[in-house]
Order: sequence, then C-alpha cells, then structure tokens
Amino acid sequence: MFISRRDFLKTAGVAAGAAAACTILPGMAYTAQGAAEKIAPGTTAVSSPSFAAPAFVMPGQPIPCKSTGAATIDKAWLMPQGGGEPVPLDHYLEKMLNDDGTSPEFLAAEKPLEPGLYNLFVTAGRGGKQRIERQPHAVAVFDSFPRDFQFGVISDIHFGDFRIAHVLPDFDTAAAMRREIAILNDSGVQFCLCCGDLCNIPPKTKNELLEYMDILENHARFPVLSAPGNHDGYAAGAGGGKITSDTFEHWTRNLGPLTCEARFGGVSLIGVNTYEKPAAERNLYGGLGQDMDQGAITAAQLARLDAALEAASGRGGATIMFGHHNPTNTVVDKNGMFTIKPFSETGRSEFLGLLEKRRPEALFCGHVHGVFEETHAATRILTAPTAGSVPYDNSHPIGILIVTVKDAQISNVETVEIARVK
Ligand SMILES: [Fe+2]
Repeated sequence: MFISRRDFLKTAGVAAGAAAACTILPGMAYTAQGAAEKIAPGTTAVSSPSFAAPAFVMPGQPIPCKSTGAATIDKAWLMPQGGGEPVPLDHYLEKMLNDDGTSPEFLAAEKPLEPGLYNLFVTAGRGGKQRIERQPHAVAVFDSFPRDFQFGVISDIHFGDFRIAHVLPDFDTAAAMRREIAILNDSGVQFCLCCGDLCNIPPKTKNELLEYMDILENHARFPVLSAPGNHDGYAAGAGGGKITSDTFEHWTRNLGPLTCEARFGGVSLIGVNTYEKPAAERNLYGGLGQDMDQGAITAAQLARLDAALEAASGRGGATIMFGHHNPTNTVVDKNGMFTIKPFSETGRSEFLGLLEKRRPEALFCGHVHGVFEETHAATRILTAPTAGSVPYDNSHPIGILIVTVKDAQISNVETVEIARVK
C-alpha cells in the first residue's frame, strides 16, 4: 500500500490546490505544485494508465496500473473531465505474480466511479522531492461494454506541418481537428484509435504533441489509444552521432508508453510501435535520407505481440491491431519529396508472419495519407486518411474513419471527409 485514504485526506487541500494549478496551465502535461518542471527522461512514476494508454473500466472495477519504479507513487487521485471534486485513489499490488515475476498493480477509488472521462494525477516522489504528474483522459469509466458500438480512427494529424499550406492555403490544423472531434462526439464513438504522426519535426515536436493533447482534452468526450508514427520518433543531433532531442522521449514523458492494449465490448485492441529503431537511425539530421522514415519492429516487440494476440484469440470477439506503417509495402509512400517503401526489412516479414499465424481481424495503419484496404491472410489492413496533412497524390480525402462494430465484429468502416485538395 503506497497511500491511504487518511493520508490523502490530511493533504486534500494541497492536492486540490495542485490540481487547480495544473488545470490553469494549458499545454503543461506535468506540473509541480503550480510551477512547470522539466522532467528528466525515464523518471515518470506511472507508465499507464496515461493519455496514450488509457484504462477502460466499469464503475467499481479497479484500474490496472503500471508504475515505472523510477519514482514512488506517494498519492494518486482523479479529476472528472469538466470539473468536480478530486477522487482519491489507493495504489496497491496483488500478491499473485505475473508471468514475468512482477505483481499486478491497481488504482482503486473507495466508491464506484461515475461513468465519464478522468484526468489522473500522481504525486511522485524521487530523491526526497515530490512533484505532480498529470495525465489527461487517462481513465475512462463506462457504464457497460456493449458488443455493438462505434469507434473512430484518427491518423497523421501532423501539427506543425507546413506542407499542407502549399496545397490548401487556408487549412487550419487545429480547427480541422476540432471539427473531427465534434464529428466523433456527435457519432457517439466509445473511443478512438490513433495511428501516429501527431507532430512534424524537431525541435518543436514537444509543443506539437502537447497541442494535440490539449485539443483532445478540451473537446473530446472519448478516450484515445495512441500508437506512434515516424514523426513522433524523429530525433535530432549533428556531429558524432550525438542525439540532442528525441521526440520519443517527449512522447513517453508526456503521453505515456509507445504501445498499449485494451479491451472493449468483446473486442481486443492492440497497439504496435512500427518505428522501433535506435535513436541514431531516427536522426532527422543524421544524413540517412529517405530510409529514416521507414518502419521497423524488433524481435522483442514481436514476441509481446505474439503473446497478446494469442491471449486475445482465447477471449473471442475481433482482435484489432493499430500502428503506423503497413508491413505489406503494397502502397508506396509518395508523400513529400520521396518515393519510398513504407516498411524496412527489419522485422517486416516476421510481422507479416505473425499476422498469418495469429490471424487478427484487422490492422489499422496510417503513414501514406490515403484510404486503402487489402487483406493479408485473414487480416483486413485498412489505411486511414490523414486528418490534417497533405493527402496521398493530392487526391485522397482529409478526414477520419468511423468503424461500426456489431456483436464484437467489424461490420462497417466509413471514411468521413472534412477537406479535399482537388
Ligand atoms: Fe504522416
């Protein structure tokens, strides 16, 4: 037990004050008692639930939690979206062990939570100091998990991307995203999958990621499970291969982990990081040329996916994967100045082999900024349109997907267009 309700109540005033301080600092994913603090890599206390890897629970269910071990969880609480009283949480470990020898961790409220979206706050302790970590929309409480529902797919919004102005001079990325969120809200989607490329290029990627988070936090009535794209993993550095900025570090400090899993209405959701390579091979200024954009996946992640797919197949219902790069390379990336195969040979055939072996129902991708569909073995591979950048061949729509699920299987995929170049 890391905290108790009594300890929380003793400091409830401080907690409420810190929460208020956080909510009046737009764009700050983390704050310390009202003052913005630079977070060193790898020092966040909680990996999930988080903005990129939200927890889906019903009232009364404990919230699965993964701590990093880099800082203690001295206190945790939720703030309901739209305001309200802080809800104190206990953090506890189960006595039983996971397969890897770790203990399952949970956060739990004293009373059943009302359905809705919650921001998670954690007082993290490290080296005798404390700070507040904040994760918007980290916990979604549903009154049920119906087997008939809709979800959205958003990809390649590309905050900070100057290319869209060349083909649509009046296009406003933030306004486009607000419109897409309004469409998803009106459709009553239960959640959204994000297939990556939230930002553009270093050194501004941190602020671009935060702008994306702010817009969702302030407008969306649904949680988003996120997988990163190549733009979310660009590093910067020149001379001797020294990396001075790594967008993945901004992602993991501010959004959460690079992969996530969830289950809703009999459907298993599995996120994939398809830009899994060393920072030197993600260095935008490292002279690597067009190869730098290509997808890659390691044996370690493939093993995790294999286990996740096996577990999902035993639970019934559709298994839906989502990531950025399509491993088939059927559609060549013609965006920008390059013509390039989306996926490198690092893990590509193994990833395709995994689809053949485990036969998930669907894999949603982004990257090529166009609407495409193909089938590999038993898996429908669906590519989402760009939500806010230059579309494929300037001829595909800019927009999102809305997916309808009936009895835990995909029954319809609709492209919702919000803009078009020609
Ligand atoms: Fe993109």
